[in-house]
Amino acid sequence: MITRSLIVGTGSYLPERVVTNAELAARVDTSDEWIIERTGIRQRHMAAEGEWTSDLATKAAQKALDAAGIAGTDVDLIVLATATPDRTFPSTAATVQANLGCFGGPAFDVQAVCSGFVYALSVADNFVKAGQAKTALVIGAETFSRILDWEDRGTCVLFGDGAGAVVIQAAPGDGSATDSGILTTHLHADGRHRELLYVDGGPSSTQTTGLLRMHGREVFRHAVVNLASVVEEALEATGLQPADIDWLVPHQANRRIIEGTARKLGMALEKVVMTVDRHANTSAASIPLALAEAVSDGRVQKGQLVLLEAMGGGFTWGSALVRM
Ligand code: UT7
Repeated sequence: MITRSLIVGTGSYLPERVVTNAELAARVDTSDEWIIERTGIRQRHMAAEGEWTSDLATKAAQKALDAAGIAGTDVDLIVLATATPDRTFPSTAATVQANLGCFGGPAFDVQAVCSGFVYALSVADNFVKAGQAKTALVIGAETFSRILDWEDRGTCVLFGDGAGAVVIQAAPGDGSATDSGILTTHLHADGRHRELLYVDGGPSSTQTTGLLRMHGREVFRHAVVNLASVVEEALEATGLQPADIDWLVPHQANRRIIEGTARKLGMALEKVVMTVDRHANTSAASIPLALAEAVSDGRVQKGQLVLLEAMGGGFTWGSALVRM
């Protein structure tokens, strides 16, 4: 017998305000056609003034707890992935912990940009497997609208705000790929490429928050290669085949990248959860947002095999294979 982390609840939250491509085309030299053709994005949500990452995170986390039927007081670990924290410190996770009233256990942020949720899930899974947590909240939450250069058409059209969360709980498993729960996670980073996607400020360098800068074409090229290899790694580690995967729930950066990964796996697009058209790229929030949507509309069912994968600044990339 081994300990597995079961996903027992999912939840998400999107800010009320929707910003269409047409609205952005009135601000920068772009068009609805260009954005849809190159990215698949039609709209994104944007946090209201005074609405912070911790506010989005708390709402998503509360919904995940409600879905799981678990009280906040039962949570003994919070791992929150974000690149847009409320403040440099304390962690956004600490604020969420206070909001939910689940004091005492560890609560901390993980920073791996768009791969943040897969990183956070892997960290929480390892706490559970090591016997150091029994019920954990894993959250991805971002307010990327706050770090965008609204004059740079190459980046400002790509991102959105939102949050998603899962509750994971320790349960016994037999160690095989037929177990329920997180079967395997794989994380990577290659800091040599850190200048291809970065924010040009920070407390230690400029004492300002800075704005997002990206060499999109280069990031695209690396994403296709890295995602293919980290997906392969997850299958190899479990002895599972692409045909065993019921749902691909990828990071939602670009429709073309997602379709490329599905094609490599030989997966029909009907088995891919796609939210990029409505959410745009919400960085660490995109996977839990997509997962929560597919669980709540009944697509993702108990017992099904779900593959999560992401790539982001750093570069960082990772995958997780989960039986729901
Ligand atoms: O989530 C973290 C990981 N991030 C990603 O995975 C993002 C990866 N990259 C991408 O998704 C794509 O590279 C982009 C969507 C960012 C860009 O698409 P692309 O097909 O790689 O376009 P490009 O950067 O090669 O630009 C093509 C043209 C350029 O014009 P020229 O130089 O060919 O005259 C750009 O200046 O499109 C121009 N362009 C735009 N035109 C209209 C760039 N942004 C825009 C825009 N509207 N918003």
